[in-house]
Amino acid sequence: MEVKFLGHSCFLIEIEGNKILIDPFISGNPNINIDPLSLSANYILISHGHGDHIGDAVEISKHHKCPILANYEVAEYCKNKGAEAIGMNTGGAYDLGFVIVKFVHAVHSSRLPDGSYGGNPNGILFYNRDYSFYFAGDTALSTDMTLIPLIAPPLDFAILPMGDHYTMGIEDSIFTAQFIKCNKIIACHFDTFPDIMLDRDKAKALYKQNSIELIIPTIGDNISIKS
Ligand code: NI
Ligand code: MN
Repeated sequence: MEVKFLGHSCFLIEIEGNKILIDPFISGNPNINIDPLSLSANYILISHGHGDHIGDAVEISKHHKCPILANYEVAEYCKNKGAEAIGMNTGGAYDLGFVIVKFVHAVHSSRLPDGSYGGNPNGILFYNRDYSFYFAGDTALSTDMTLIPLIAPPLDFAILPMGDHYTMGIEDSIFTAQFIKCNKIIACHFDTFPDIMLDRDKAKALYKQNSIELIIPTIGDNISIKS
C-alpha cells in the first residue's frame, strides 16, 4: 500500500491497484503547484465541508467520473454541482470493494464554501483483510477515539492533524495515538497557513519520548506501508 502526501490534508492512497483521494485541496494550497485534474482515483473521500478539504473534489470527480463519498450534506452539495456523490453519516460504513470505509466522529465544525450547513465533520476508518488505518480529519482530541480499537482491526498507521489552532496540536496528537492504540503516525494539516506552522523539533522530541513513530511528510512523499 502506498500513501502519497499532496499537501495539507490531501492524500492519494493506493491499495491493491485501487486509488482513494482524500480531501483534495490542491488549487487553493499555496505550497503545491500541480494540476488538480492530473489526479484521478476510484473514489474521492471528503472529511467535512470546509474549503481546505472539499478543495477541487467536484472538478476532479466530474473530470474523471469518480464518485465522492462524504457526509450527506457535503454529498448533496457536490451533487448539486454536477458530481456523482454518495451521502453517508457518522457511524456508517461503506464497502468500496477493496476496502471498507467507516465514518466516525470528529470534533470540529463543518460549513460549506457557499455558507450552507456542512453536516457533522468526520474522521474515516479504512480496513480490509490486510490493512487498517485511520484518517482523523480536522478534529480535537476526544474520548470517542477510545472506541476506534474496538470497532476496527488493529491500526497499521493513523493520519492526524498536528498544526494546532484549528485542530489538535502536537501534545494532543500523542494522547490520540495512545487512545487509538497506534504507534505509527503521519502528520497533516500543518504549514499551509501561518497559523498552523508545525514545530518539527518539538514534535519529534515528544514522539521519541513516548516511543511512537512520527512521519512528517514533505509534499510529494510516498510512504510505503507493508501489510
Ligand atoms: Ni476544517
Ligand atoms: Mn481544515
